[in-house]
Amino acid sequence: MKILVTAFLLFAGLASAAAAQPTVTIDGQHPAGKVSPMLYGLMTEEINFCYDGGLYAELVRNRAFLDNPEKPEHWSVVSGDGASASIALDPGQPLSAKIATSLRLEVAQASGPHPAGVANGGYWGIPVYPNTTYKASVYARAAPGFTGPLGLSIQSVDGRTLYAHGEVRTIGSAWRRYDITLHTGRVPPTSLARFAVTLDRPGTVWLGLVSLFPPTWNDRPNGLRRDLMQLLVDLKPKFLRFPGGNYLEGDTVATRFEWKKTLGPLVDRPGHAGPWGYRSTDGMGLLEFLLWCEDMGAEPVLAVYAGYSLQGAYVKPGSDLAPFVEEALEEIEYVTGGPETKWGAQRTKDGHPAPFPLRYVEIGNEDWFDKSLSYDGRFAQFYDAIKARHPQLKIISSVGNEQPAQFLVHSRQPDVVDEHYYRSIDEFLKMAPDYYEKYNRHQPAIFVGEWATHEDSKVRPWFPQAKAQPPTPDMKDAIGDAAWMAAMERNSDLVIMHGYAPLLVNVSSGARQWRPDLIGYDALRAYGSPSYHALALFSRHLGDELLPVTRADTAVQASATRDSRTGRIFLKLVNPQPVAERLAVQIRGVAALGRSATSFTLAAAPAATNTIEAPSAVVPVATPLPSLQPSFTYDLPATSIVILSLPAR
Ligand code: AHR
Repeated sequence: MKILVTAFLLFAGLASAAAAQPTVTIDGQHPAGKVSPMLYGLMTEEINFCYDGGLYAELVRNRAFLDNPEKPEHWSVVSGDGASASIALDPGQPLSAKIATSLRLEVAQASGPHPAGVANGGYWGIPVYPNTTYKASVYARAAPGFTGPLGLSIQSVDGRTLYAHGEVRTIGSAWRRYDITLHTGRVPPTSLARFAVTLDRPGTVWLGLVSLFPPTWNDRPNGLRRDLMQLLVDLKPKFLRFPGGNYLEGDTVATRFEWKKTLGPLVDRPGHAGPWGYRSTDGMGLLEFLLWCEDMGAEPVLAVYAGYSLQGAYVKPGSDLAPFVEEALEEIEYVTGGPETKWGAQRTKDGHPAPFPLRYVEIGNEDWFDKSLSYDGRFAQFYDAIKARHPQLKIISSVGNEQPAQFLVHSRQPDVVDEHYYRSIDEFLKMAPDYYEKYNRHQPAIFVGEWATHEDSKVRPWFPQAKAQPPTPDMKDAIGDAAWMAAMERNSDLVIMHGYAPLLVNVSSGARQWRPDLIGYDALRAYGSPSYHALALFSRHLGDELLPVTRADTAVQASATRDSRTGRIFLKLVNPQPVAERLAVQIRGVAALGRSATSFTLAAAPAATNTIEAPSAVVPVATPLPSLQPSFTYDLPATSIVILSLPAR
C-alpha cells in the first residue's frame, strides 16, 4: 500500500467538549475483551475470472482445448504473406487420459520470413513487460514428414512486432512436453499481444496444453500473478476462506470443486465447468490454494463440499452421503496429514512434505438454499466424522443467524456459524451502531464469511441492473464497508472472522459476473478500490484488546483497540456525512499520549473511485500529529475513514 505523507492538515488541540458536541469516548481502563486473532482475512472463489484470467498467472486461455468440444475457442490461425494453415480439434489424438483432445495444426504453405500457425489472445490480452523472462511450454507431436522447428513467440496482435521469440528445434512423433524461455527486451508494456505457435515450412503437428507464464510470486512454478499477490499480502490477511462460495458447490454434484481432480501434473487435471458461466482449468488446485495461504502468511479456512449443489440436488444423509464425508476427511488429511498417511504422502509427492496448519473447516456454503432442510442431517454427519478424527478442529455451519430459524443447524452445536451480508450503504449504516451489540453472547462464534456494501438496495449485486454499474466500489461504498468493519471489530469477541466478497474482478469487458469487488485488474494492470484501502487500514492498525467506545451526538462510527504490549491505541473513525465533523475524542484511564501519533486518512467525494485507468485517485494519506492530550478535538473530513494511531501511556 502506498501511503503519502503530507503536511499536518487537521486541527487537533485541547478539547472542551460542550454538551452537544459530537463526542467519542474510549474507556482505556476497562478493556471489553480480546480482539479476535483471526482479524482480518480474505474470502475467495473462482468468479469474475478471478483465478483463470486473474491471480493464477497462466496467460494462455483454453490452453488444453477443453473449453468447447465444438471448436478451439480463443485460438485462431495466423499466417504471413502467402502462408496458409488450418486448425481443428482432434479428439482422436488425445493428449492424456484426462485431457482427451488436442489441436491439429496443418500448415500447407510457410517459409522462414512467412511462418504460419496458431495464436492465442490470452485472457483479454497477453501482458508484455519489458526485460522479462517468460516460461513457455507445449506438448507436441508431429506427423511423418515434419521434425521441426516449432516457433513460439509473443507478438503484437497484428503479428508485425515480435516481442519475444524462441524455438523448439526438433519434435518427434510421440507426445512430449517442450519447455523454453522467452525474453522480452526494452519494449513498452502492453497487453495488445498474442502468443503464437508457428511452423516455417509445411507440416502437420498436434498441440496439447500450451502454456505461458510470466514471473510469478516467489517464482513458484504454476504460480500466482505478482502484482495481485502484492496487493493481497499488503492486506496482511490472517486467513483465506476457500474454495467458495458457489464454486465449492458447483451447479451439480458432478461439477462441485472435486479436490482430488485438482492435484498433480497439469496434464492430469481435466478442469471442470464452474457455476459462474465458464470452465475452470483447475490449474488453481487444492495445493495451489494452500501455497497461496503459505505465501501470504495466512491460515487456510477450508470449506468442504457438503452434498448440496446450486441447482438444488442434495445428497441424503446416511449411506448416500458417506462417500462425501470420506472425501472431506481425506481432504483434511491431504492438508494436515503426516507423510506417513495416504493423503499426506500424496501431498509430499506433489512437492510439499510439511503439513499445513488447519483449525477451521466449513461444511458447505449457504446451505439455507437447500429447501429440503437436509442440511441439519448432513451437517451432523460431517460434524461427527470430523470431530471423531480431529477433535481439535472447529466446525463452521454455513447457515448463519441472519437466516430463518428453520434452516439453522439444531441437532449439533456448530463451533462457528457463517453469516453473509450483502447490504446497501444505508442498511449497513443502520446496522453498524448496535447490530452485534444486541447479539446473545451464549451462542456459537460468528464468521461473517461474505459481506460487501453496494450503493442501492434496489440494485442488489445479483440483479441484472448491477451489470451496468462499475466493477469496484467507490468512496461511499467504502464508508458503508468501514462502518460495518468497525461494528464487527468492536464485537470481535463474537465475530471472530470476516471476509469481504468477492475479492477479485477482471474488469475487461465480459469478464465479470458480480459487483462490487475489492480489487480490479486487466491483463496488465491492477488496482485496489477505496474499500480495499479501507480494509488495508483496518487490518494494518489493530491491537489485541477491545476498548469500549461510546458515541454522543454524532453519526460517526468508531472502534478502538489497544496493543497490550506497547499501549498504542488504534481509534477507527468513519464519518459518513458529506460535511466535516469536529469531534471531541476523550480517552479515559490514560494518563498521557506520547509523541509519534499518526493519522491515516481515506477521504474523498462520495462518488470518487479508483479505476484501471486511474488506480490511485483515492488512497490513504498518513499524517504525523503533534503531541495530544488524552482529550482532544479532531476535525474529521467529510466522507472519511480515519485511523488515529495513538501512543498511550
Ligand atoms: O460472492 C458471490 C456469491 O455470493 C458466493 O458465491 C455465494 O456464496 C454468495 O451467494
